[in-house]
Amino acid sequence: MESALDYWSAKALLEWQVELGATEALCEAPVNRYELPAPASKGAQKPGQGSGSQPGQQPGMPTPVAPKPKPVDPVAEARKAAAAAAELPSLRAAMAAYRHCDLKMGARNLVFCDGQAGARVMVIGEAPGREEDQQGKPFVGAAGQLLDRMLDAIDLGRDKNVYITNVLPWRPQQNRDPSAEEIDMMLPFLERHVELAQPEVLVLMGNISCQAVLGKRGITRLRGTWAEAWGKPVLPMFHPAYLLRQPEQKRAAWADLLELKARLGSAN
Ligand code: URA
Repeated sequence: MESALDYWSAKALLEWQVELGATEALCEAPVNRYELPAPASKGAQKPGQGSGSQPGQQPGMPTPVAPKPKPVDPVAEARKAAAAAAELPSLRAAMAAYRHCDLKMGARNLVFCDGQAGARVMVIGEAPGREEDQQGKPFVGAAGQLLDRMLDAIDLGRDKNVYITNVLPWRPQQNRDPSAEEIDMMLPFLERHVELAQPEVLVLMGNISCQAVLGKRGITRLRGTWAEAWGKPVLPMFHPAYLLRQPEQKRAAWADLLELKARLGSAN
């Protein structure tokens, strides 16, 4: 019998799968979903049961048509769920229970926060990447390590007056940009997150956070200038992932860090 696959065919197949987006092994053996038993639907009729008429229905009468379910407004649902959360753990639980954002299905973990609740500075990133998804913590990959060094340079850190979250708690597949709908439906949770964490200032990392919180993009123009959102001062900055790709922009980021430090004063 011939060997199953030569090296080059196996490599080509693997690359093809990566191109299609299958970039992570979720379990040891593949699951053939075509062979799984179909889930029994609640109202399924048993064989030999029923004439097609409803219980209590007169023979010959037309089958009553069930009223169409009202379309769900994901943003309104998010607002309701977020408003009902009285503290951070219940906000986290409300986000975990929220069913309208499809990103959740492709994510391993909900990434809620890191750092100290009640810290003076709240950093808002975009969305978890691969490492964040695996660990369930924001900014733990390469960009996160740079963020830690940036904060440390002005004597801040996850254990020192900084609280970190993201616009989206679930990783978008392939690290694609989140859609406007995804941002809109998760925004009420972010707003409530800010209310409950009670920071003095917000730092927005990159365009997606600016789009969500300020309704504007154009980080090159926005960065370094204080704005206001939800009654708080807001400082847009270059995203650390961008600084990794464009290290010449670190000078601008340093100016923004000094601006933040000056705003906090010496008593941080
Ligand atoms: N980039 C982000 O915006 N957030 C993270 O948590 C990680 C990378």
